Amino acid sequence: MNPHQHNGRTAAPEFHALPPPTAEEQALSARLQQRIREEIAAAGGAISFARFMELALYAPELGYYAAGKQKFGAAGDFTTAPELGSLFARCLARPCQDILAELGGGDILEVGAGSGALATDLLLELETLGALPERYLILELGTELRARQAETLRDRAPRFLERVHWLDRLPAGVRGIVLANELLDALPVERFKVTEAGIHRLDVAWENERFAWREEPADEPVRARIEPLALPPGYLSEINLRAEAWVRSVADVLQQGVMLLVDYGFPRAEFYHPQRTHGTLMCHYRHRAHDDPLVLVGLQDITAHVDFSAVAEAGTGAGLVLAGYTSQAAFLIGCGLEKLAASSDPEAVRAHLDLTRQIKTLTLPHEMGELYKAIALSRGLREPLPGFALHDRRGRL
Ligand SMILES: C[S@@+](CC[C@H](N)C(=O)[O-])C[C@H]1O[C@@H](n2cnc3c(N)ncnc32)[C@H](O)[C@@H]1O
Repeated sequence: MNPHQHNGRTAAPEFHALPPPTAEEQALSARLQQRIREEIAAAGGAISFARFMELALYAPELGYYAAGKQKFGAAGDFTTAPELGSLFARCLARPCQDILAELGGGDILEVGAGSGALATDLLLELETLGALPERYLILELGTELRARQAETLRDRAPRFLERVHWLDRLPAGVRGIVLANELLDALPVERFKVTEAGIHRLDVAWENERFAWREEPADEPVRARIEPLALPPGYLSEINLRAEAWVRSVADVLQQGVMLLVDYGFPRAEFYHPQRTHGTLMCHYRHRAHDDPLVLVGLQDITAHVDFSAVAEAGTGAGLVLAGYTSQAAFLIGCGLEKLAASSDPEAVRAHLDLTRQIKTLTLPHEMGELYKAIALSRGLREPLPGFALHDRRGRL
């Protein structure tokens, strides 16, 4: 394994020369910093990194995903698979079609729908296949992103708006497909450090007019998970307990169907590899990647890779079946990517070149093909799920 391979998200690593924020961005960031400082003071001098990350990304009106900043695509900070073009969604439509057919109908629930590109392209393709879901539900945290999703649908496929519903929380029951692309990597993580004195948690304090790290002995849930890994002193990494809780909460409401998640990450043995001594936390700002989450507060994305073993355990522990796990490349090819590519007309040069670019970015091993994975956790469905048969990697989790 190579711990320095593609860092997740399509942005070039660059640890210097971050472009300066505008005056308006600085003012927004200053308000958010004040909000976080007040919480730090109220907590007696420090808050957990998970809480800091939660506020930096999701504080109402001020956090990175809550405020109006352009995040996705060329004019934003990073690009996700649905933002590259429609190919990712068109591939995903195949397993959705099969699963909805097996269920005899049902809904799609997308969690963390970003700009609404995946929802729009998926509905368009499912319409072509004659396989539209009964409803397309979207669970999104911030009102600004909800508005953007509605705008994307209104611009590109207004006829679907009556089928799309925005939710404030998970519904009581779901029959169908729960879909999330790059959601888990955006959930707040705890940071920890292994010391001679035991496992320490990295908290965030305010010192000398800036945010700074402070070490505290880790609490029981983190210790219980990290101590058995026997990592060496000095080792620093993250643990995403919220991703596990989120998977369990979806399992609780999934009556029949599948939870299909695509994200960057690895099995546990690779996540906590002895050589990965500084974890996977990354920040993205205008297509630059760097590793300091305490700067550009509210203006940059903060993300960590996903421990897919933990995701699988959370799902199976809650009664779901691990129905598939493989690389994004194998998954998309298993979903019929080659057939979709073959149907493109090489004479239509621009469209053909665009499709070729999407295929390369989505599947090449040094792009998104290998680092990104797809995982499926199901209840009451036949196996193997469509898309996962080509290269079954469940045994690696
Ligand atoms: C990295 S973005 C990915 C967006 C989109 N899926 C894509 O691939 O372009 C993460 C998304 O998850 C949303 N999000 C984060 N935590 C969430 C939660 N607990 N419930 C619902 N959405 C959440 C964010 O607001 C954002 O839309």
